[in-house]
Amino acid sequence: MLTYQTLPARHVSEFAAAVREGLLKPGQRELPSKYLYDEVGSALFETICLLPEYGLTRADARLLQTHAQEIVDRLPSPIHVAELGSGSGKKTRWILEALSRRQRTYYFPIEISPAALAACEKELGQIDMVSMVGYEQPYLEGLRAVAQGRDEGDHLLVLFLGSTIGNFDRAAGEDFLHEVREILQPGDALLLGTDLEKDTATQLLAYNDPAGVTAAFNLNVLARINRELGADFDLSFFRHEARWNYEERRIEMHLRSMRRQSVRIPLANLRLMLNEGETIWTESSHKYQPEEVVRMAERTGFQCKGQWIDEEWPFAQNLLIVV
Ligand code: AVJ
Repeated sequence: MLTYQTLPARHVSEFAAAVREGLLKPGQRELPSKYLYDEVGSALFETICLLPEYGLTRADARLLQTHAQEIVDRLPSPIHVAELGSGSGKKTRWILEALSRRQRTYYFPIEISPAALAACEKELGQIDMVSMVGYEQPYLEGLRAVAQGRDEGDHLLVLFLGSTIGNFDRAAGEDFLHEVREILQPGDALLLGTDLEKDTATQLLAYNDPAGVTAAFNLNVLARINRELGADFDLSFFRHEARWNYEERRIEMHLRSMRRQSVRIPLANLRLMLNEGETIWTESSHKYQPEEVVRMAERTGFQCKGQWIDEEWPFAQNLLIVV
């Protein structure tokens, strides 16, 4: 696989600044969810995807496996594939195989983690009639580079799977769709995976599994700050918490401080006092209604050309076409 990397390697200072800003936020302290996904966090997330309580990833994969041909049949030709966040690349195989039956297909995974790009290459590098070119860049920068490099008349299918959009606030998610739309041309497509609202007990259990994998995933962000920024968080004084926010219709993950405690984070030039019971908000997972996604698409310059919903675990693949 070829890889284009125009970004400087992420610097400790960027992480330190984000940690400092989030932890000093008045009202509710927070840490940006993208920092959950270092090497340990990514491995823990892969394990979450195997948990019986977390049906999201299996639903996503099942829909793609079952409907790939139908999805591909609704796309113009020739078309190439750009994926925002390649992850391990497993689910993408079905789409690439369906496309490769009708044309030679370029596949551009866009991913800031070199480890994830390497895993993706291992998983998808050997498909007949598919050529892979990786972009080690943030989503929109990578997508711009892919779009600028395309040949006249070629269409693009953008994959944004796994309900990653759920990490954004609703307004920010909509802005993001709009930005993707601005990079694309009429006839191009976005296949968007969205986890759907389901009963609260099921949703909460998916983010608070009895084996404690999600708790470990959440706590790891503190361990990462210890490792990379020389901090002295004592993880045994924090507890993982998953909440359903009724107004925002999202799961929130928090880390609750179980006692009054002070923490030093030398490389962020920070010393904190946390109160007993106060929390650090680490991630949001917004849940959607099927019609809500259709309306959001329409407001951002797309038309929903198909929606496939899993019968076992409410999750939707939405095929959005640029108008
Ligand atoms: C990768 C953002 C889709 O929100 O369900 C899983 C991350 N966090 N368990 C999600 C996650 C805790 C996941 N996404």
